[in-house]
Amino acid sequence: MMDESNGFTREAKLCIGEVQTGNAIVHGENLAVLDSLGAAIKGRVKCIYIDPPYNNAEVYRHYDDRLGRRVWLDRMIHRMKMLRETLTVDGSLWVSIDDSELHNLRQIGDDVFGSENFISSVVWNHRKTRENRRPFSTNHEYILCFARSAEAFKRSRNLLAAPPEILDRYKNPDNDPRGAWQSVSANVQDGHATKSQFYTLVAPNGRLHCPPKGRCWVYNKPKMEAEIRDGRVYFGRDGNAVPRLKKYLSEAKIGVAPSTLWMADEVGTTDSAKKHLMALLTKEAVFDTPKPEGLVQRILHIASNPGDLILDAYLGSGTTASVAMKMGRNFLGIEQGPHIATHCVNRLRAVRDGEAGGISALVGWKGGGSCAFYSHRSKLTRV
Ligand SMILES: C[S@@+](CC[C@H](N)C(=O)[O-])C[C@H]1O[C@@H](n2cnc3c(N)ncnc32)[C@H](O)[C@@H]1O
Repeated sequence: MMDESNGFTREAKLCIGEVQTGNAIVHGENLAVLDSLGAAIKGRVKCIYIDPPYNNAEVYRHYDDRLGRRVWLDRMIHRMKMLRETLTVDGSLWVSIDDSELHNLRQIGDDVFGSENFISSVVWNHRKTRENRRPFSTNHEYILCFARSAEAFKRSRNLLAAPPEILDRYKNPDNDPRGAWQSVSANVQDGHATKSQFYTLVAPNGRLHCPPKGRCWVYNKPKMEAEIRDGRVYFGRDGNAVPRLKKYLSEAKIGVAPSTLWMADEVGTTDSAKKHLMALLTKEAVFDTPKPEGLVQRILHIASNPGDLILDAYLGSGTTASVAMKMGRNFLGIEQGPHIATHCVNRLRAVRDGEAGGISALVGWKGGGSCAFYSHRSKLTRV
């Protein structure tokens, strides 16, 4: 039954409700599905990951990748435009691609998002073995990232966990109850200093310290004295050293900016993804081009937080939905092939039941959650 007020069927409204509060996968052509959802998901999606056919002239078991350039370009332009509309102000779109259409996809992305909102081109080391039958063994693919607003994305994106060599810099030689710390300079260049940052600092042992030439104290006198009283300024083991601030591990936003080179050992390969899927879906035909969960996990980690809505409009074997579920994100997945009913549904059932492969151990996944499955022909229907 159609609701005259906005043209949505009752079922579609139900689906939209579920998309807004929970998880849904939809069997249908992505442009048509997004069109049906319309205003309901406009501006709501924090992170889109898509892995469209690459137009690489291959025929895979579950889809045909021989669209030809003009058709492929036309389809991508329309979908990228529509996908952009679903993003939050600080949202981002990540697209997997290979050399066949990398240059064209970059151009489409620049046109749709504005070249100032191009964030990065990640090189993913997608295979470890050497392909000797070709002039070059292709061992990488790309992931292009565009933001609705580069500025807003930069403010909201998450860092990656710091490597051990950075964490090792934090020690606790004075048994500080606040835990491990490292010392950082207590003085800064005086270019933008105010008068209140120039003074003689008195150490607890009475020793006097002046900032070096061309520099000033990082805090004014009252603030610095409060920090010293609080034990947050270090004067060396004997109390005579130049004062330095204690930066605590527990208070520091420790992390590193993601690099543009994602190695197979960190995020997995196409082969490792296939093996994971074959162990998971023993009765289904092998899906040829799945992405490893580690790769999608990294994207979702950088670009979203628990509770955010994630969208994948080319769901394939359901990797993005599975990873989103394991990471506590909500998701909407769209897939036009019948494998959504076999691969995606069965995979998500296994995830709900605590499936142990992929990123499960890494995120401590024990199972839980739910997902609605819809069919979209002329309307969205719960199945
Ligand atoms: C490369 S696969 C995605 C693989 C996925 N990332 C994974 O890890 O399993 C591309 C998928 O997009 C689907 N697809 C292609 N065009 C589509 C469209 N217009 N609407 C919905 N799905 C589409 C194909 O059926 C195929 O399953």
